[in-house]
Amino acid sequence: MERIERLLGALTVTEKIGQLSMAAAARAVTGPGSQRDLEKDIRSAAVGSVLNAWGSAEVRALQRLAIEHSRPGIPLLFGLDVIHGHRTVFPVPLAEAGLFDPDSWEQTARAAAAEAAADGVSLTFAPMVDVARDPRWGRTVESPGEDPWVASEFAAAKTRGFQGAGLRADSSVAATAKHFCGYGAVTAGREYASVDLSERTLHEVHLPAFAAAVAAGVAAVMPAFIDVGGVPMSANVPLLQGWLRVRQGFHGVVISDYNAIPELCAHGVAADLAEASALALRAGIDIDMGGSAYRTGLSQALDRGLIEHWQLDASVRRVLMLKEMLGLFDRPYRGQEAPVPAAATRALARQVARGAITLLTHRRPVLPLAAHLRRIALIGPLASAAQEMLGPWHADGRAEEAISILAGLQTALPRCRIDSSAGVDLTGQRRGIAAALECARAAELSILCLGEGSAMSGEAGSRAELGLPGEQRALAEAVLDIGRPVIGLLTSGRPLTLPWLFERADAVLATWFLGSEAGDAIADVLTGTFNPTGKLPLSWPRQVGQVPIFFAQRPTGRPARAGERLTSSYLDVPATPQFPFGHGLSYSSFALRDLRCTPRSVKAAAAIEVSVSVHNESATAGEASVFLFVRDPLASIARPLLELKGVRRIALAGGERGSVAWQLPVAALAFPGVDFEPLLEPGVFEICVGQSADADGLLRCSIEVVP
Ligand code: GLC
Repeated sequence: MERIERLLGALTVTEKIGQLSMAAAARAVTGPGSQRDLEKDIRSAAVGSVLNAWGSAEVRALQRLAIEHSRPGIPLLFGLDVIHGHRTVFPVPLAEAGLFDPDSWEQTARAAAAEAAADGVSLTFAPMVDVARDPRWGRTVESPGEDPWVASEFAAAKTRGFQGAGLRADSSVAATAKHFCGYGAVTAGREYASVDLSERTLHEVHLPAFAAAVAAGVAAVMPAFIDVGGVPMSANVPLLQGWLRVRQGFHGVVISDYNAIPELCAHGVAADLAEASALALRAGIDIDMGGSAYRTGLSQALDRGLIEHWQLDASVRRVLMLKEMLGLFDRPYRGQEAPVPAAATRALARQVARGAITLLTHRRPVLPLAAHLRRIALIGPLASAAQEMLGPWHADGRAEEAISILAGLQTALPRCRIDSSAGVDLTGQRRGIAAALECARAAELSILCLGEGSAMSGEAGSRAELGLPGEQRALAEAVLDIGRPVIGLLTSGRPLTLPWLFERADAVLATWFLGSEAGDAIADVLTGTFNPTGKLPLSWPRQVGQVPIFFAQRPTGRPARAGERLTSSYLDVPATPQFPFGHGLSYSSFALRDLRCTPRSVKAAAAIEVSVSVHNESATAGEASVFLFVRDPLASIARPLLELKGVRRIALAGGERGSVAWQLPVAALAFPGVDFEPLLEPGVFEICVGQSADADGLLRCSIEVVP
């Protein structure tokens, strides 16, 4: 690009380093370090991008400083964590993953991008596509769950949604696939802890979603804070240069995580900022988020010969190219005056929130709520907590615009008296249990609103226990002891190990953090206005001692068999999850029959036609999800017991029969060989179809791949 070369040629070294520095504005605080004089830095061209600023007035003012009052006059990028919505907050990614619906994932990203772009944002630090199999880790809430195929579909759909028809469009923002890579496998689920994975697991589990994001044209990638096998991702040349830029052909911008470059010193691989900056630049990190490393370290690194000018220019070129692709040189003042969320966006938020609600247990027929109910007790610290419904990373989401569970039920049940009593708070104060019990005793039915506060998951939200925080269990058991019908609603950023609740309550639903429309969506499901369709995007453990737990386990030499001692199991807890991946009940009931796979013998370049019939055996219209797994029972490398290759959803009236089908390319049966390139080995494969990863519920047929 001629314009870029001209701009680059006119920059001093200090101004080049400025283009690689992203400074934090003060509207949100998402990392450590002191706030600098942002306006002074912009005037002196010491920064080329800003994070955590939004609102067209503020953004325009900062942009004007850059264009009219700095020597180079180069427009700024404005970055923000628009993870699951901007002003209208959608369900957290873990909840949204449970729709298993790429169209929906794309639509919410599209709507969030439009709202954020109207507020002057040009770059979002999303989608987060880390595979998460250890729910002790707080960022499980931000992830698309445990499966690499789902994470890949999610990465591509979100990239399409955020970036829309092109980055120049007023309603588009540049997307950032993060956190590259393996962050979900932190040691013991502890935040920022070291990750130690085999290269095989990296290639089979943690890299596919980033390959999918790059293939979808993602504009940026963000390395994770963590080290992988002792090599911090912010300095990881083999993965950032070798795998991402060379093998995947990624030409976009790599943005460090917040302060991650100076933290290379804390990792113990750099003696000072000059070394840290040189390691990061050589690894291909173009933008230093936090802006404190490159600003001082890169000029020293040049003086000490740790980096070359061409390496500096290569990064500046990529940053200028991104600004060019966003059209910032021609139209730097993106955004509108005081954008207002569209009604259609709120309607989308309600629709997606409904779809994310997962009916975990329904032991006695208490749902949908009977129309004759006249008095309900809403008990628990999440009953009227509108702010908590927004979850972590809610950008410009506002509590006053969020609908609490209480408000949603009051709207849906105008003729029913609904008393609400928190009973306990989230931190363990239990002053109000007596009042809550009074409330429950006076009601025909109690709804327990239990779970986590939004600050108990997300970044730096790891928990070593997965029960209910504080004294919520004491409250819940006291209500259960009354002996009237009890429904449990779990607001959380992760699965919670509550066998005592699942055994006693009449029904329990996972409501995660559903965003602005939480209360209305929950009411839609409880009243039967919406028949629940949510399915678990991760295995739900019985006890924290089981984690990491996931369905794609390798068989081992002694596969787990219930009741048999010398097999891969525990003495004290079944090896199976409380609820399997894909679990989610409905007010309908569905049966799968007649699995067909043709042809039975296929060559590598062909596809397998898989079909199965689905019968709604109930009188209630509903929607079923059908999962397609494959199993390679004999290969040169032990293959997982199940690998997910597709999901289909089908809506059926009461009593109706339908069918779902896939054209499964034989190439999808390949796995990373010893060189981690796709390897397809001839032989017999099992095609498995079911309503979850529960092995007992799968229909199976075999096909043979012939040379
Ligand atoms: C945080 C997070 C990252 C986020 C960034 C900017 O530390 O790790 O996901 O995008 O800083 O807020």
